[in-house]
Amino acid sequence: MASQHKTLDDLATLVSLCKRRGFVFQSSEVYGGLNSCWDYGPLGVELKNNVKRVWWDAMTLRDDVVGLDASILMAPQVWKASGHVDGFSDPLVECKKCKSRHRVDKMKDPKKCDTCGSSELSEPRNFNLMFKTFMGPVEESAAVVYLRPETAQGIYVNFENVQISMRKKIPFGIAQIGKAFRNEITPGNFTFRTREFEQMEMQYFVKPGSDDEFMNMWKEVRFSFYSKVGFKMENLRFHQHGKGELAHYAKDAYDIEYKFPFGWNELEGIHNRTDFDLKNHQQLSGKKLEYFDEATKEKFIPFVVETSAGCDRMTLAVMCDAYREELAGEGEDDKRVVLGFHPDLAPIKVAFLPLSKKPDLMDLSHKLRSDLRHFKSQYDESASIGKRYRRQDEIGTPFCVTIDFETLNDKKVTVRHRDTMVQERVSMDQLNLYITEKLKNF
Ligand code: GLY
Repeated sequence: MASQHKTLDDLATLVSLCKRRGFVFQSSEVYGGLNSCWDYGPLGVELKNNVKRVWWDAMTLRDDVVGLDASILMAPQVWKASGHVDGFSDPLVECKKCKSRHRVDKMKDPKKCDTCGSSELSEPRNFNLMFKTFMGPVEESAAVVYLRPETAQGIYVNFENVQISMRKKIPFGIAQIGKAFRNEITPGNFTFRTREFEQMEMQYFVKPGSDDEFMNMWKEVRFSFYSKVGFKMENLRFHQHGKGELAHYAKDAYDIEYKFPFGWNELEGIHNRTDFDLKNHQQLSGKKLEYFDEATKEKFIPFVVETSAGCDRMTLAVMCDAYREELAGEGEDDKRVVLGFHPDLAPIKVAFLPLSKKPDLMDLSHKLRSDLRHFKSQYDESASIGKRYRRQDEIGTPFCVTIDFETLNDKKVTVRHRDTMVQERVSMDQLNLYITEKLKNF
């Protein structure tokens, strides 16, 4: 049994595990990498898809939320109305000596360069974070389009389409997962702050005046989500935005923060965006974006409570939270690294391990694996059984199934549990049921 646990205290350990085990690679690595861009490997994409799936289910397996998948490129007026053309910028200074650039609001001392300590700094200037590109073959200002800096706007401009086609009554929400882009001045901390990232956002349309009540409701719903997917609650907290922190659209905002190895940082924001966005779109487009309440015969522009989570940072937080080192006492080398994922998130659910390379055992392992193909699984026949258990621990596989010589006689396999390392003999014909039940009641 495990006698001692050590959690993750430095990001470099995880970055190295991610590369070694196929979770995350640096983008364009053969060319030396592209700053702040990362590629999810075979296990990373499974993990990230699972993060998206649990979020999507939590949002859309409700009567009051429906989904949407809007395009990344949108009419440029969207970003004028949303305030992003004029107001979505960070204050940037450049060091005249070492030429490094810094976000003024994040500097240790705004009068001194964080890199070289020089006080020869340029005047701060506002730097717009939106990526620009051109639509069509002519690179002229009339053809400028932006890569969306948030998915939310695709929801606002579809508010009426969704409400009418789905016959939704307020309060209701629209959920969306998709890429967003921000030309951050200081990206960093692995996949935490990147210029290309994925958002999981939900916009909840409510009657003006009920916005505070629904802010409270969504704060609770979102906080409890994290415990349902296995997060340690001591690593989570709320942070309410002070006046200086509020985004240009927000009346009130709370972050759900996670205690990363590099400190407390935002995982998700819950924002009261009032009628700011819909009102501005109505004004600029000239199209009414009002809601007619049949019951009270009132017409109004709804207020919006937004929940906005970063998929990449949630995936990173899931890995940080799941990581532990412990003494295994299972023979072989004693130390083991475990990613103790919630089973819904684990990229691989089961590993099939023949005890030796005897053809009978290998064939049977393949057959069993193929019969249980509905569980994402791995097959591994190389190295000692202890080493193979360690490999599976390190990628967070909840169950290892060992096929040994006895199996040929008694038609039973050994199921070894990741967290307790307990081993149980289970009949092969009961294995599907056994794993299904155990994954459900982990
Ligand atoms: N939609 C809110 C945000 O992107 O932060």
